[in-house]
Amino acid sequence: MAEDWLELEKKAREWTYEAANLVKESLANPIHIESKSNPNDLVTEVDRAIESFFFHKIQNEYPEHFFLGEEGIADELESLGGTVWIIDPIDGTMNFVHQKYNFSISVAIYHESQGMVGLVYDVMNDELFHAVRGHGAYLNNEEFLPVKERPLHESIIGLNAKWLVQEKNAYRNPLRALVRDVRSIRSYGSAALEIAYVAADRLDGYISVNLSPWDYAAGLVLLEEVGCKASTFRGEPLDFMKPSTVIVGKPQLHKEMVSSYVGEEL
Ligand code: IPD
Ligand code: CA
Ligand code: CA
Ligand code: CA
Repeated sequence: MAEDWLELEKKAREWTYEAANLVKESLANPIHIESKSNPNDLVTEVDRAIESFFFHKIQNEYPEHFFLGEEGIADELESLGGTVWIIDPIDGTMNFVHQKYNFSISVAIYHESQGMVGLVYDVMNDELFHAVRGHGAYLNNEEFLPVKERPLHESIIGLNAKWLVQEKNAYRNPLRALVRDVRSIRSYGSAALEIAYVAADRLDGYISVNLSPWDYAAGLVLLEEVGCKASTFRGEPLDFMKPSTVIVGKPQLHKEMVSSYVGEEL
């Protein structure tokens, strides 16, 4: 059956607002926090509850759709075949825990590997970034203006400064050179939101040494609608089946950052 992507976006939006209310309500009570891969990799019962909320809604309404989410409620997927919801229940868990602010819910729907619907919702600021393939990208229902290219030395890039000082980070030196040459850097702590900011022209680019598909899937749908680019540091397409480096930007800037800074073989 051919899907109606505008209808699916409405459904995804309705559930995202519902999920956001659950997240806000959870802030009234103490939140149980655990660590995952390292002491700074946090997860809470709210992350898991929100993933479960989406998983059950989708299973009930669209039993033929697949699910890919950070907290592992669904079986692992081997491809993006069919229709797949890619969800980060809370992107920016560290902000959620420490600031109770600056985190997002990221919901994407892909069909045969193509991004059809993308929503990134900044819960506490009530900012919904959304796009449906071929229908433009919007912030709270207002269409984005076309992005403006700026030369690299006038650009502001989203990047986590921690990577500049981590000995084990092979990209430390290329990233330092980039930080030196751009106008400035910002770090908001939610990759999904930072990618949405590039599409909305609040940032010129965004860079991460390690992201998973739920961090960027929705953002990529937004970027596509405004002609921005996303790839690995080497300029290759992102592989949704494994974590990777990610570089996002306005087309000229993206090209320059890859070719002159992070694209070389290390
Ligand atoms: C994290 C955030 C953060 C980024 C990390 C992600 P999470 O996602 O997007 O900004 O730097 O790489 O893992 O764990 O809060 O969903
Ligand atoms: Ca996480
Ligand atoms: Ca995330
Ligand atoms: Ca998350």
